[in-house]
Amino acid sequence: MVQGSANLNTEINEKWLQEYVDNWVGFFKKQTVDGEVASYIPILAEADQEALGISIIGKNGVAIKSGNTEEKFTIQSISKVLTFIVACMERGLAYVLSRVDVEPTGEAFNSIMHLEITQPKKPFNPLVNSGALTVSSMLEGKTSDRKLEALFILLEKMIGYRPQINVETYESERDTSMRNRAIGYYLLEGDYLESDLGITLETYFKQCSIEITIDDLARIGLVLSNDGYDPDTNEEIIPRAISRLAKAMMLTCGMYNASGKFAAYVGIPAKSGVSGGILAVVPPRVRDEELPFLEGCGIGIYGPALDNQGNSIAGIKLLRHVANQWDLSLF
Ligand code: DON
Repeated sequence: MVQGSANLNTEINEKWLQEYVDNWVGFFKKQTVDGEVASYIPILAEADQEALGISIIGKNGVAIKSGNTEEKFTIQSISKVLTFIVACMERGLAYVLSRVDVEPTGEAFNSIMHLEITQPKKPFNPLVNSGALTVSSMLEGKTSDRKLEALFILLEKMIGYRPQINVETYESERDTSMRNRAIGYYLLEGDYLESDLGITLETYFKQCSIEITIDDLARIGLVLSNDGYDPDTNEEIIPRAISRLAKAMMLTCGMYNASGKFAAYVGIPAKSGVSGGILAVVPPRVRDEELPFLEGCGIGIYGPALDNQGNSIAGIKLLRHVANQWDLSLF
C-alpha cells in the first residue's frame, strides 16, 4: 500500500521525505509494464523499459532523488522549452510570438493537421514540432552549431556544466525522421522558416539529442520556479517575462494531447520528452500548513516506458501522486 502523506511535523524531515519518495517510486515502477519505449527513433528502443527515477531540488536546499537517478538520456522535446526561451532572449518576445502562437493543439506532438486546415499556417505553439522547428529556424547563426551555442550557454548556467550531444541519437533521428521533414516543407510553404530547411532540421535533431540527467532537469525546473533567477546567487538567467511565458506554455501545451488532464489533475507546468524525461516546475506556494517545498522546487523524472500520448506512463503517475500528496498544484 503506498503510504499516504502523514501529517508532517513542523520540522519537515528530509529523511522522511526520502522514504516517502523511495516508496512511491517502488510502487509506480511496477506500472512501467503498461507503457512502451519509443522506437520510431530506432536507438530509443534500447532504453530500459522498467527504469523510473525522480529528482526533486528545492529552493530551500532540500534535494531528494530515488530510483534510476544516474541515467543519462536525451532531452528530446524538453529542449523545445529552452530553444523557445533562447529565441525570445535573442529576437524578443514580440517577434517570436509573431511567428508562433501560444495555443494548445490538442493533437499529437508531430501532428500536421493544423498546418493543413488553418490559415495562416502559423504554428499553434512552440512545444509541438511545427512550432519548435519554426523556433529552431529563427535562432541566431548560420550553422546548427552556431544556432545552438546560446542554448548550451544557458544550459551551463542552469546545470553547472556544458552537456554533450549524443551523436548516435542525433544520427538515428536524422536518418529516419520523415515526419519532421514533411512538417518542415509545410512551414517553408507558409514562409515560417527563417533558415534553410536542412540547417533547421540539423539544429532541431541536435537540440533533441542533448544528453542530461534528472538532476539537470530538476535544476532547470528550479530556475524556472524562481522566475528565471539563479536560486543560489539570485542572478537573472532568464528574463522574468520569458520565464513566465515558458511556464504558461508548459502548463497548457507541455504534455500535448494530455495537457488538459495534466493541468487539471497535477496542476504544475511540465514538459515531456519521448526518451522518457519530464521537466516539472513547482512555483512557491502559500498554504496554511507545513508542506514540502513551499518555497518552490524543480523536478526531473526519467521513465522511458511511454503512454499513447508519448509521455512517460509511470513518470506522470508518480508526478501526479507527489503533487497530490504534497499539494504542489498551482491552483
Ligand atoms: O521530433 C521528434 O519526434 C523527437 N525528436 C521529439 C519528440 C518528443 O520528445 C515528443 N515528446 N513526448
